[in-house]
Amino acid sequence: MNDETQQNKEKQAAAIAAIAFVKNGDVVGLGTGSTATYAINALGKKVAEGLKIKAAASSIRTEELAKSLGIEIVSLENLSTIDISIDGADEFTESLNLIKGGGGALFREKIIATLSKNSIIVVDRSKKVKKLGAFTIPIEVIPLAFQYVFDQILKLSGKATKRKKGNKNFITDNGNYIIDADFGLLEKPEELAIALNQINGVLAHGLFIGLTSKIIMSTGNDIIVFE
Ligand code: A5P
Repeated sequence: MNDETQQNKEKQAAAIAAIAFVKNGDVVGLGTGSTATYAINALGKKVAEGLKIKAAASSIRTEELAKSLGIEIVSLENLSTIDISIDGADEFTESLNLIKGGGGALFREKIIATLSKNSIIVVDRSKKVKKLGAFTIPIEVIPLAFQYVFDQILKLSGKATKRKKGNKNFITDNGNYIIDADFGLLEKPEELAIALNQINGVLAHGLFIGLTSKIIMSTGNDIIVFE
């Protein structure tokens, strides 16, 4: 089995382990990315078999996938709470802190994680790190504040790069830009998260601190749960 096939097998196994926690009547937060997609597909099968859920989507592509599978979508706008959410991550530590947003859906993903009573992250082995920060931190920025935010990141000693899609700026589902910021390996991710929150024009950043209930990691043969 090549590395990519193995990694996909791990993603799928973690996703399937997570959907066992979804109960009839739940409002479910649906993540974005390749691992979350395995979970959404598996949930779609359960819905076809009779599971009754409503779901809030973290991106337009997740919403379209869920609808195509017959999963009822509710708007995030009117939700005060979500029973359970299932999403992927770009990096995680055993202390349940994450970097997310590689797919650019970090703002809605963060709202969903914040509203979730049970926020489950599903990952393959490659996502586990001792310290966060090898993966650059995605930062969603309101376009008119781009240069200001960019300069503030440099002042915090980060290296900032505006995300592109081909020759054009990457635009999020919310109509904003993403800056990918490299702060090196993070000794104190909590402090950086607070500093980034204080910059006007930052809608959200990809450091998810204290928002996760459980991380389900597959090694291919085993499922390991961090909580
Ligand atoms: C989307 O914005 C991200 O937060 C994803 O959850 C993250 O990039 C993980 O994606 P994969 O499951 O594709 O690795």
